Amino acid sequence: MVKICCIGAGYVGGPTMAVIALKCASIEVAVVDISVSRISAWNSDQLPIYEPGLDEVVKECRGKNLFFSTDIEKHVSEADIIFVSVNTPTKTRGLGAGKAADLTYWESAARMIADVSKSNKIVVEKSTVPVKTAEAIEKILTHNSKGIKYQILSNPEFLAEGTAIQDLFKPDRVLIGGRETPEGQKAIQALKDVYAHWVPEDRIITTNLWSAELSKLAANAFLAQRISSVNAMSALCEATGADVSQVAHAVGKDSRIGPKFLNASVGFGGSCFQKDILNLVYICECNGLPEVANYWKQVIKVNDYQKNRFVNRIVSSMFNTVSGKKIAILGFAFKKDTGDTRETPAIDVCKGLLGDKARLSIYDPQVTEDQIQRDLSMNKFDWDHPIHLQPMSPTAVKQVSVAWDAYEATKDAHCLCILTEWDEFKTLDYQRIFDNMQKPAFVFDGRNVVNVDNLREKGFIVYSIGKPLDPWLKDMPAVA
Ligand code: NAI
Repeated sequence: MVKICCIGAGYVGGPTMAVIALKCASIEVAVVDISVSRISAWNSDQLPIYEPGLDEVVKECRGKNLFFSTDIEKHVSEADIIFVSVNTPTKTRGLGAGKAADLTYWESAARMIADVSKSNKIVVEKSTVPVKTAEAIEKILTHNSKGIKYQILSNPEFLAEGTAIQDLFKPDRVLIGGRETPEGQKAIQALKDVYAHWVPEDRIITTNLWSAELSKLAANAFLAQRISSVNAMSALCEATGADVSQVAHAVGKDSRIGPKFLNASVGFGGSCFQKDILNLVYICECNGLPEVANYWKQVIKVNDYQKNRFVNRIVSSMFNTVSGKKIAILGFAFKKDTGDTRETPAIDVCKGLLGDKARLSIYDPQVTEDQIQRDLSMNKFDWDHPIHLQPMSPTAVKQVSVAWDAYEATKDAHCLCILTEWDEFKTLDYQRIFDNMQKPAFVFDGRNVVNVDNLREKGFIVYSIGKPLDPWLKDMPAVA
């Protein structure tokens, strides 16, 4: 029986391995992690991450051919194929701080593999890593090999949170990069055989190692660039009276462009886009390509601009001060159908409003109070470390409370801000909300989910990104 071990039981390791176990009954899959609480959660009824369809997959295989364990060394030493899906945070200190990937966790995983292995292994990079990481990992493994042979493969993950299970069941493509030697090709074939249990052959792409590593960074940069492009247009729409949804629809009808990823919003978030672009920028700089680096840097700058613009709209509309005012925040996750808050634009928007001394009442159907408090008191980039190694803030942010539902959050509030496109926000009883709010009652829709005309009829002053401005907001500065 082929044995697979995955180091890192996170948003990627957990779902990908659960699906491999489901689709390959003849393979035994162990997912291991240094975080005891994460592993206990994977073994409980309350999985550590929320992902539609994940519970069913895990329940089907757990204890049969899918195991979650903290006994890392045992499972690594027994495995034929080892996936490494650990954190790759942005460095906060030293060379490349603020841009380069911190490979501490990766390196320690590689050294541990070298320490405990007693048979030949295929080591698969599942984490997103800088180009040429495989070469570094190969060096660590071969210099400590004790005669054991390793093949390194790059198999970046393209799943999107919120649709991870669907994406894993029917991936657009599976990408496998490896050495162009006979041994490298044999390793590629072994991993191909795993995916071939359910992925059609023409969707499994094989490349050299460096192309696979770079393709993941490039794909995320292209996706984020589309969001920044439509968000840049949204600012121009507001200035000219055009409607960004109409523009995006018209643009997206061009078959060369396509309709996806053209929704204007308060900005992109998630653990990957910013981190991967910063990483790309750093690689370009290291390779003497400052023009290319600056091109990609702009994607992040526009994203920051969009978040600032949103905060400034709120403050300037509300008589230039939100000090002491209750503001309801609806949605905190970085997108709907996930509880993930890593790099969510809600953090920057909330911090911006707290900087102007607002009182925040936050409601998100999937994010806990503890998580919100952690996020609002953590330093930039600190989130991307194993949970037990994250610096803890000693005090909660006092001006922040967390509500059970949207009605409680908005009661007596001066304004409500929609920061995640949860479906339930489309069908709220906005009349009831309006009746219980301070007047004038403002809505700032950062995700274009509400029916603007409908809300204006009820008496709300409504701002919706990239839409023709409410007369109230005209001539008020959106950019500081
Ligand atoms: P995560 O933070 O949810 O999970 C990483 C896990 O690795 C943590 O549970 C941590 O405790 C564990 N870990 C760290 N060092 C370890 C070690 N030495 N031994 C054992 N366990 C260790 O991160 P996530 O989101 O799963 O991401 C993992 C990688 O995949 C990152 O490189 C990320 O950029 C990439 N990625 C993430 C995607 C996403 O949607 N979240 C999509 C595609 C790639």
